[in-house]
Amino acid sequence: MSDSQTSLEFVYDPLRYEQGAPVAELGALRDRSAVIRVEEHRLAQWPGGRGFWLVLRHAECMQVLKDARLFSSHLGATQLRDPATPQDLAYVQQMMLNMDPPEHTRLRRLLANAFTSKAVAQLELKIGRHARDIVAGVIGDASEGECDFVKDIASDMPLLCLAEIFGLPQQDRYLMYDWANRVIGYQDPDYAVSNAFDPQRGSAMAREALTLRPRPDAGGRMPDPRSRGGMQDLYRYAHLLAEQKRGQPGTDVVSVLLAQVDKEDGIVSIEEFENMFWLFSVAGNETLRNGIPGGMIALLEHPDAWRAMQADPALAPGAVEEMLRWWTPVMNFRRTASRDTNLAGAMISAGDKVVVSFLSANYDERVFERPAKFDIRRSPNPHLSFGYGPHFCLGAQLAVAQMRALLLELTRRFATMEITAPPTYLRSNFQRGVKTLPIRWRVR
Ligand code: HEM
Repeated sequence: MSDSQTSLEFVYDPLRYEQGAPVAELGALRDRSAVIRVEEHRLAQWPGGRGFWLVLRHAECMQVLKDARLFSSHLGATQLRDPATPQDLAYVQQMMLNMDPPEHTRLRRLLANAFTSKAVAQLELKIGRHARDIVAGVIGDASEGECDFVKDIASDMPLLCLAEIFGLPQQDRYLMYDWANRVIGYQDPDYAVSNAFDPQRGSAMAREALTLRPRPDAGGRMPDPRSRGGMQDLYRYAHLLAEQKRGQPGTDVVSVLLAQVDKEDGIVSIEEFENMFWLFSVAGNETLRNGIPGGMIALLEHPDAWRAMQADPALAPGAVEEMLRWWTPVMNFRRTASRDTNLAGAMISAGDKVVVSFLSANYDERVFERPAKFDIRRSPNPHLSFGYGPHFCLGAQLAVAQMRALLLELTRRFATMEITAPPTYLRSNFQRGVKTLPIRWRVR
C-alpha cells in the first residue's frame, strides 16, 4: 500500500468526519489536480472497495453531473460505497435518484408537475408560520435560555414540511425522523436503532405499518436499511398513504402527483410512489437537519454577519446561499462511467466509479474569490450544494425557503445567540452532519 494512498484514506473514512469536514485537505489535493485516483482500503469503519476517481474542481464536477449518459446514476447507483449485493443494487435502482434518462426524465417530469407554483406558494406561507411557532416554542416566557439547536430548532422544520407535501397526519411526521435515522445509522452507530416513535401516538396507518418494523436478528444486527427488508414499515406506510390519496385526493402535492394521467408519461404507479416516499423522507429531512445547524455554525462564528442580518433582513437570500456553500450538507455523489473517457487527463474506464466532491468544488478558488471567507454578500454564488444537471435537487426551492424563514425568525427574535460547547459531528463521509449544537440565547 503506497504512502500517498494511505494519506487519501481521510476522503472516505467515516470516522474522520467526526472531527469536522476535511476542507483544507481537499484544497491541497485540488491544487495539484482536477481529478485524482483514490484506492479504498479496508478500515475499521469501511469494508474497502474497488477505488474511485475523485473529481475536485468546480468545472469538472459540472461536466460530470450534466452528462448523464456518460456518467450514469443507474449503473452503480449514487453512493460512494457500492451496494452490498446485486439485489441491493437492484433495489436502490428503482429510485429516481438512481435512474438515467428516459426513465428518470419521465418520473422527474411527473413530480415537477405536482409541485405547482400554487402548491409551492402555499407551502412557503406555512413554512413562515412553522418558523414562528418553532422559535416561540423555544422562547416560551423566558428572556434568555439554552437549548440544543439541532434537536430544539432545526429538526422539526423539515418534518413539518414533508408532512404538508405528503398530506399525512401531522402526528405521523416523527416516523420520518426514525426512518431517516435508520438510514444514516449505517455509518453512525448513534443513530442505528432509533425506533423511538410510539405507534399509539400515530394514525391508524402508522399503527398498521409499524407492525412490520424491523427487529434485530439473534445476533442483535438490524437488517441493512439500504435494502427493502430494512425499511418494510416505511414501504407499508407509503403503500397505505398512496391508496388513501388515490381514493380520497386532497390538495397536497402527493394527491396531485397520484391523480396525474399524463398522455405522454402515463401515471405514477403505487410501487413508484413507494420509492419516491423513501427518497423524500430521507433526502428532504436529513439534508436540512444537517444543513440548518451547519449554516448556523457559520453565522454564529461570524458575529458581524449575524449583526448585518439583524440590521438588514433583505440580506437573507444571499446569506442562505453562502451558508449552503460554506457548509455543503451533502458532500458528494457518485456516478459510474458508461464508457472509457478522459476527464481532465484522468483515463477513466467503462465501469469505473466517479465521485463528485461538492465540498471541494464549493471551495474552488478558480470560481470563488477567497473561498475560505464566509461572505453573506457573495455574488454570484454558483455553489453546487444542490447538485447540477438532470438530477439537480428537486427540493432546492423548499429547502432554501425553510432555511430563510428560520434565519429571519431567529435574527428577528434573538438579540444574541452563542455556541456554548463544541458541536458534535456525524460519522459520515456523505452527509456533513451536526448531531448537537448547544447554544445560549437572549431575546431582543
Ligand atoms: C439543504 C438541503 C438539501 C440539500 C443540500 C440537497 C442536496 C441534493 C443534491 C446534491 C441532489 C443531487 C443528487 C445527484 O446529483 O445525484 C439532490 C437531489 C434530490 N433532492 Fe435534495 N437536497 C436538499 C433538500 C431536499 C428537500 C427538502 C427535498 C424534498 C422536499 C429534496 C429532494 C430531492 C430529490 C427528490 C432529489 C432527486 C432528484 C433527481 O434524481 O432528479 N432535497 N438533493
